[in-house]
Amino acid sequence: MKILGILASHQEHGLNAKMLSEVLDNVNPGVETETIYLENYDITPHKYHEKNAVLDELSQKLMDSDVWVFAAPTYFRELSGVLKNFFDCMRPKLVYFKENGDTIPGQFKNKHYLSISSCYVSTLENFLTGVTDESFKTIDRVMSAAGVIKVGEIVLPNTFGMKEIPNNKKELCHKYAKKISVKKRKDDSTVKRYIQLFFMIAVMALITMGIQLPLQNWIGTNFWLNYVSFTVIFFVLLACILHFMTFVKHRRR
Ligand SMILES: Cc1cc2nc3c(=O)[nH]c(=O)nc-3n(C[C@H](O)[C@H](O)[C@H](O)COP(=O)(O)O)c2cc1C
Repeated sequence: MKILGILASHQEHGLNAKMLSEVLDNVNPGVETETIYLENYDITPHKYHEKNAVLDELSQKLMDSDVWVFAAPTYFRELSGVLKNFFDCMRPKLVYFKENGDTIPGQFKNKHYLSISSCYVSTLENFLTGVTDESFKTIDRVMSAAGVIKVGEIVLPNTFGMKEIPNNKKELCHKYAKKISVKKRKDDSTVKRYIQLFFMIAVMALITMGIQLPLQNWIGTNFWLNYVSFTVIFFVLLACILHFMTFVKHRRR
C-alpha cells in the first residue's frame, strides 16, 4: 500500500505542504508514503512520437501508488496553475481516446484520491461564496474522466497571516490519514449512495406531506389537488437538493 502526496503550491514549505505532511505523517504503520513537489519538475506536454522522460517518471509514480493526495492552493479562485498544467500534460496518460475523440478512463482507473486546498478569505466568506469550489471541481472533473475515485476534501480557509495549521484541521488531516490507509476495493460507495437516496426521498416525502397539512382546507379530499400539490412541492424540494449536491457540495469550512 502506497500513498503519493502531490504538492502543487508556489511554496514548498507553506500551509498546503504542512496540511499534506499532516496527512502523510499520520497514515497507519506499514503504509509507504512519498511526496512530490511539482515545481521541481519541468512539466511540458507530450509531443507526438517524442519521449517525455518527466511525464513518464511522474506517470510511474502515479501507477506505483494506490492513493493520491493533491495539495493545491486556490489562486484567483481557481486551481493552482502548476496542478492544472500537470493535469493538462498528463491527459494522454490519464484517459484513453475513442475513435470519435471521446475519452474513457485509462490505466489509473479505480485508484483513489483526496484533495486539499486553501484560501485567504475567511471561513464565513468561503462558506457563502465558495472561493475554493473551482479548485475542487477541476480536480474532480479530471479524476472523474480518469476513473479515479474520490475519498474526500480538506479545505483550509483564513490563511492570510496564518503560520500554523489550526488543531481542528490537523485532526481532520489525521482522520483522512486513517481513512486512506486502508486499501479499498473499486468504488465501494454504491450501497451507501442507495441508502442516502432512500433517506433523501423519505425525508422529502415527509416534508412535502408536512407542507400539505396546513393546505388541507383548500385541498380537502380531492385526489387530483392532493396529487398536483404533492408533485409541485416534491419537485421544488428535489430541485433545491440537486442544486445543493451539484453546486454547493464542496467543503468550504
Ligand atoms: C497567486 C495567488 C493567488 C491567490 N488567489 C487567492 C484568491 O483568489 N482567493 C483567496 O482567498 N486566496 C488566494 N490566494 C491565497 C492562497 O490560496 C493560499 O491560501 C496561500 O497561498 C497559502 O498557501 P501556501 O502556504 O501553500 O502557499 C492566492 C495566493 C497566491 C500566491
